[in-house]
Amino acid sequence: MMKSKTYTDKVKSIVNLMIPWYQKNARDLPWRRKPYCDDPYCVYVSEIMLQQTQVKTVIPFWERWLRELPTIEAAARAPSAKIHKLWEGLGYYSRVRNLQKAAQQIVQSGTRKVEHGNSTCQFPDDFDDVLALPGIGRYTAGAICSIAFNQPTPILDGNVIRVLTRIFGIAENPKEKITNARLWQLATELVGISKFETKNLKPNCSHLNQSLMELGALICTPRNQRCLICPVKKLCVAFKENRAAELPNLGKREAATAQHFIAFAVECGGKFLVQQRPAGVVNAHLWEFPNTEITDIKTDAKTAFQTHFGVKPSTVQPLRTFKHSITRYRITLAAYSVSLKKRPGRAKGRWLKPAEFEKLAFSSAHKKLASAAVKSMLSGR
Ligand code: ADE
Repeated sequence: MMKSKTYTDKVKSIVNLMIPWYQKNARDLPWRRKPYCDDPYCVYVSEIMLQQTQVKTVIPFWERWLRELPTIEAAARAPSAKIHKLWEGLGYYSRVRNLQKAAQQIVQSGTRKVEHGNSTCQFPDDFDDVLALPGIGRYTAGAICSIAFNQPTPILDGNVIRVLTRIFGIAENPKEKITNARLWQLATELVGISKFETKNLKPNCSHLNQSLMELGALICTPRNQRCLICPVKKLCVAFKENRAAELPNLGKREAATAQHFIAFAVECGGKFLVQQRPAGVVNAHLWEFPNTEITDIKTDAKTAFQTHFGVKPSTVQPLRTFKHSITRYRITLAAYSVSLKKRPGRAKGRWLKPAEFEKLAFSSAHKKLASAAVKSMLSGR
């Protein structure tokens, strides 16, 4: 399709404004520093952690991961307990299992080493090979290839959708197939232009893609957008027409589903019962206190305990209620302390002293529950 001159000029102008803006205003994030920004393994780890998790949460996790597992070979051979412990608190734990699976595939497949700075790293540098790795979709493959290899591979996530729908005044829902395809096309054109040298700019696909992420995170935010200091405000339809607040048009939100659980910190002789979640479920392989989903929120804790363990406890002490969200689930976890003289026969799992909790990876709510249970035991309640 022939594009009008004004459209092509607009795309070029955006690239020419965004790259210098990024180079001046980008946040100093650890994976953007040398030598990490040139090492595909470091970029890969950052992009997996940044899927569904905020930058400020990711920073300490990324630093610790690279201290403990500085190469793709180290990630490939690390024990499962170690990778889960390093991911403890980041959530969406299938990411870490896929990360290790991908590292093992790369190391075992004999993928050739790519050079970066004075080092080399085994990592595929072809977009389709990166996309074929477990846990990597079109966005992440595009981010890795553009950032680590300076390739003109587009990215489109929530941030970039917001930036592009506003600049181009796209009022259709970006989840609709045709609009989504149009946005990918725009992202492709922008990064495609960034690979060419101009009078004032060196080719830089990495900085162009990161400028889109950065504009979405710092300026073109969902609310309270900072249009007056935006580098592309003169080209932005939403700014000109004062429509930033109504774009992107994401339609109606899917309603949240409430889920209620009762959990038990069962203590016997100074040890607590903990259980490992099986493969193939949410939070697989992580450790937790025995718990059960309840469909009737009036279910009392003593009855729930008896149903679960087959014995009636003399007392159950309310400990704390935890609320958190995973995707569209709003989860309430009501925790109780139960002190027993004898271990129930039906109890599966491990009985651990509090000092032994440290070695295991717990999901976030159960890690907090562990602290509350130990505190309660020590205070003699
Ligand atoms: N979100 C996803 N990838 C990112 C990156 N490389 N830097 C900052 N935010 C991001």
